[in-house]
Amino acid sequence: MIGIAADDNHLPEAWRLAYERDRTSEVTSADPSPERRAARALAAFILTGLAFLALPGTFLGVWNLMVISEHRAATAASTAWIQAHGHAQLFGWVGSFILGISLYVLPKFQGRALKKFGMVWMIWGLWTTGVAWRWWAGIGAREWRVALVGSAVLELAAYVATQRILVFRSGGARKKPNDLGSWLGICGFGALGVALILNLGICIEVSFRASAPRFPPLWDRTFLLIALWGFAVTVAWGYSTRFVTIFLGLKPPLHQAARWLSIGVGTLVLSALARQFLLADLLALVLTVYAIWAIRIFHPSVRPPKLIGVYRLYPTFIRLAYVWLVIGAALGVAADFVPRVTGLGGASRHAITVGFIATLIFALAPRILPSFLNGRELYSTRIMAASLWLLSAGCLLRVFSEAIAYSAGGRLWSLLPLSAFLELAAVIAFVVNMAATLTQSPPAWFSAGGVNPKQPLYWYITSFPKTRPLLIEAGLKTLATRSDVPRSLSLAEAVAADGADLDRLLARLNEFFSRRQPRRAGRN
Ligand code: HEM
Repeated sequence: MIGIAADDNHLPEAWRLAYERDRTSEVTSADPSPERRAARALAAFILTGLAFLALPGTFLGVWNLMVISEHRAATAASTAWIQAHGHAQLFGWVGSFILGISLYVLPKFQGRALKKFGMVWMIWGLWTTGVAWRWWAGIGAREWRVALVGSAVLELAAYVATQRILVFRSGGARKKPNDLGSWLGICGFGALGVALILNLGICIEVSFRASAPRFPPLWDRTFLLIALWGFAVTVAWGYSTRFVTIFLGLKPPLHQAARWLSIGVGTLVLSALARQFLLADLLALVLTVYAIWAIRIFHPSVRPPKLIGVYRLYPTFIRLAYVWLVIGAALGVAADFVPRVTGLGGASRHAITVGFIATLIFALAPRILPSFLNGRELYSTRIMAASLWLLSAGCLLRVFSEAIAYSAGGRLWSLLPLSAFLELAAVIAFVVNMAATLTQSPPAWFSAGGVNPKQPLYWYITSFPKTRPLLIEAGLKTLATRSDVPRSLSLAEAVAADGADLDRLLARLNEFFSRRQPRRAGRN
């Protein structure tokens, strides 16, 4: 709450009146502050996810694959390291992205503003520490027993706090959701809760009974089925009903599919818990086909796809991701029926994780995230294109060669490292592109020379914090003494209050914004 302290007698009249106006009447101008704070928190989740993707995730995955192909044996790599890699990718990368995007976007979908920023940062801290600690436990922490259990507790705590913000909100009548996206989101987050509770249970069991930080194979399979199909894939379907539908110009999804898809995902989770793996894998295949039909991914667009500012072929890669999902699900069923072909299970998982999840994120994130992050622009459409082509080539090579090499051997072993390097190059391209996008200054979506003296001072310094020192230097002396600025004080009033030169100040501001003009005109 803005107030006037005792030493504020020295404040210029215009400032005091503006504080008074703020206090006594409703301020009607839009406040950019909550949006900036939400975008900052989202950026933290995204940068964390990128860090997990690059180092603990992909580098460790490539390392594991090199060991496997050098020894020509799937068992050559350390199981604990393989699980540490899987956890870093699924929870560190995909989980951080999903949590950050959900906390940013779901309150908006629910027609309310995100307010509990302290809690959002706490979630980020708990989640990041938990996932990083879990990775450290897997790759060699001496106190791995404490680390396993501690990390699982932190992850679960972050999850509970996220649900507190997303689900248990106070006030306002709550309607039962009636759209496919919301139901898939509910099922996906429900499955994440089950996966994290199970993770805690297995971690406790392993830390008491096992000699190394690795999940027993059957529990690992149960956990992966729930985390992958119940959580990551289901949430990806949910967000597809929103973003893919809009960006590809598809007809609205078939919302009546919500009931059977939700029942199907629930049954899949229960089958995994009951270790009915064949049933779970069959369900995954059937649900994939049903979800594709409901989201209408392969239907022709009824409106032009939104292509401005991104790689123009990205809609094709989104559809390709769904092709990979069908392949991954089918390979999973094949692995159950022909267990002697040992590479099928790994090939299936790779088709789902890299072919579907990573391709979908590589194609969608550059379209969605820059605009969420204060209307930024994607750093490079060429790097986006390179990341998608390299990822697809690497994934094709890996799924094909792993399915055969692990069981039949032969020359295909030597293709595996090549696939790993192609995917590594793709990941580096994606990480560099997204990090460069996030760290560049947000553009001004108004024309150079469009600075309006009637606009509140508060708006300028909140939307573009770098204007604060510039304005102080241009003569706004009072601004230097205040951390809180009245929302109703216009730029012109602030200039007059300090006897500054309005023309000089406007010229400085216009010059500032001329350096922040977007590279492309208009929004798509
Ligand atoms: C750069 C690419 C990647 C490489 C080189 C790689 C490599 C590997 C290797 C060698 C394994 C051991 C099993 C097998 O031989 O198939 C594995 C397992 C796994 N990977 Fe990856 N991977 C990559 C990307 C990803 C991504 C993007 C995800 C998730 C989004 C992921 C999630 C997993 C999971 C969940 C497992 C199973 C872990 C377990 O058994 O508990 N991987 N990966």
